[in-house]
Amino acid sequence: MDLLLLVLLLVSPVHTWLSLEDWGSGSVEGSVGEFGECVCNVYLPDTSFPADRMELIQTTSSQLSVKVKLQINKIINLKIQLDVLLSSLSNLTARVEILESGPDKYIKLDFELLRIELREFELLVTQLKASLNSSSPAFESLYTEIRNMSLIVDQLESYDRSNLEVIRIEFTKLQRKLEKCQDDQDDFSNAEIGSCKHGGILRIGKPVISQLNADLTSSYAYGGWGKDSKPMPGSENMYWYSASSDTTVNRIIQYSDYYKLIMRQPFKIHSLYVQYNYDRRGTGNNYVVRENTMYYQFRSPFAMAKWNMTSATIAYKVVPEASTQFSYHYSANQNLDFAADESGLWVTYATAESNGTLVLGKINEQSFEVEEVWQTSIFKKSATNAFMICGVLYVTRSVDTQTEEIFYTYDTNKNEESYISIAFEKFQDFYVYLDYNPTDQRLYMFNNGYYVYYNMKFKVV
Ligand SMILES: *[C@@H]1O[C@H](CO)[C@@H](O)[C@H](O)[C@H]1NC(C)=O
Ligand SMILES: *[C@@H]1O[C@H](CO)[C@@H](O)[C@H](O)[C@H]1NC(C)=O
Ligand SMILES: *[C@@H]1O[C@H](CO)[C@@H](O)[C@H](O)[C@H]1NC(C)=O
Ligand SMILES: *[C@@H]1O[C@H](CO)[C@@H](O)[C@H](O)[C@H]1NC(C)=O
Ligand SMILES: *[C@@H]1O[C@H](CO)[C@@H](O)[C@H](O)[C@H]1NC(C)=O
Repeated sequence: MDLLLLVLLLVSPVHTWLSLEDWGSGSVEGSVGEFGECVCNVYLPDTSFPADRMELIQTTSSQLSVKVKLQINKIINLKIQLDVLLSSLSNLTARVEILESGPDKYIKLDFELLRIELREFELLVTQLKASLNSSSPAFESLYTEIRNMSLIVDQLESYDRSNLEVIRIEFTKLQRKLEKCQDDQDDFSNAEIGSCKHGGILRIGKPVISQLNADLTSSYAYGGWGKDSKPMPGSENMYWYSASSDTTVNRIIQYSDYYKLIMRQPFKIHSLYVQYNYDRRGTGNNYVVRENTMYYQFRSPFAMAKWNMTSATIAYKVVPEASTQFSYHYSANQNLDFAADESGLWVTYATAESNGTLVLGKINEQSFEVEEVWQTSIFKKSATNAFMICGVLYVTRSVDTQTEEIFYTYDTNKNEESYISIAFEKFQDFYVYLDYNPTDQRLYMFNNGYYVYYNMKFKVV
């Protein structure tokens, strides 16, 4: 009886999307399910009865009868979503093939846009895969279908058939649906943006692998990416990226939004190479961007620098106590590590006087001076990175090739240090960049050439 009930519960939302005829008028429907889970359905126009999917649902329902947990529900929902997407794509593929074979009107079409949408779709699938931590064959079929579609688009370019416009629109719809569904499902932060009414990090989500860097080479392993931590009005969606094959910081590239970042279409590239006998290059890749200004470690002289990307001007300030002898565990030259949080701009470094232990400094943004310092008891070389959230310093170390751990915090609000253990997964072992962004409460990592980010949950107080 219980099992039957569960089967019915699972089948009913599926019935809803199967019964919809016109998928073009369908939409993403978010609702709260029986178990308090977030149910997110994409409606699709599959008119044939999907026996295989029915079987999947039955299998998952028997799993459910064993473990009725929110987490499991979430995974099932995602799996259903993927199945739905898979059949939508099959349908589109079939229709492109029909077009391909039939005679038609000739009009000019934007094939590049179609390709872009395919790539974006692929990216979304990658993100879903990562957030699911799944090696499900469904993903492989999705990738195959996307590749197939790309090939067909290439072939069709020489035909230029009018109905492709319709397909393009449908792709866009499909994409938006997936995006929205993904947003609904994502394990977002439980604290209000800008608010510090929480007890610090509770846990860190799975790594979301956005993309290989814009130079499309994993040999550019030294770099960083992210958003402005205090964006100027109108620049809220801006992303930046910088990387090189060594620790030198040669340039910073800006993109107007995430889409442009992924499509590698910058609106500005700032070169920091020698110009008019003036070398503005940095080192160490521990920069942050704030108010359209990049704060970074100057190469020569050893100093903290700020490159104002609005005025294209530079200023630097030597921190006399800071030492060049102590870097983080993964990479050389990471001597001045900048961080930005809800309470402002910070820099960490080690000094000879502190015997190489980490010192945290608060930067006065007007005077560009370190105005207050806190001494921690962490030997800098044993740490892999550090970032700030709400005036609390979080220090990480490596556990193994797949796992990283926040092992230490220093709360500047209470002048209190503590040893903790919050493990999180890495995509690949080596990384040089890890920073928090207060505008979206995400952690940004540059992981062996890949853009990776993490969502977080905070302790409720
Ligand atoms: C794709 O979906 C449309 C709309 O529901 C349907 O009319 C069509 O027959 C499907 N095409 C294929 C090839 O399955
Ligand atoms: C991800 O999946 C792999 C293999 O299925 C598993 O070993 C690993 O523990 C999972 N990671 C997390 C963080 O759940
Ligand atoms: C890819 O396209 C080829 C030829 O159009 C077709 O034979 C094959 O079944 C397609 N594969 C998938 C997974 O759709
Ligand atoms: C950057 O330069 C602009 C234009 O001169 C100025 O208004 C702004 O305050 C500067 N920003 C920082 C962070 O110094
Ligand atoms: C550095 O080491 C010296 C000698 O062992 C010790 O006296 C001093 O307190 C240490 N400084 C810090 C900040 O730990």
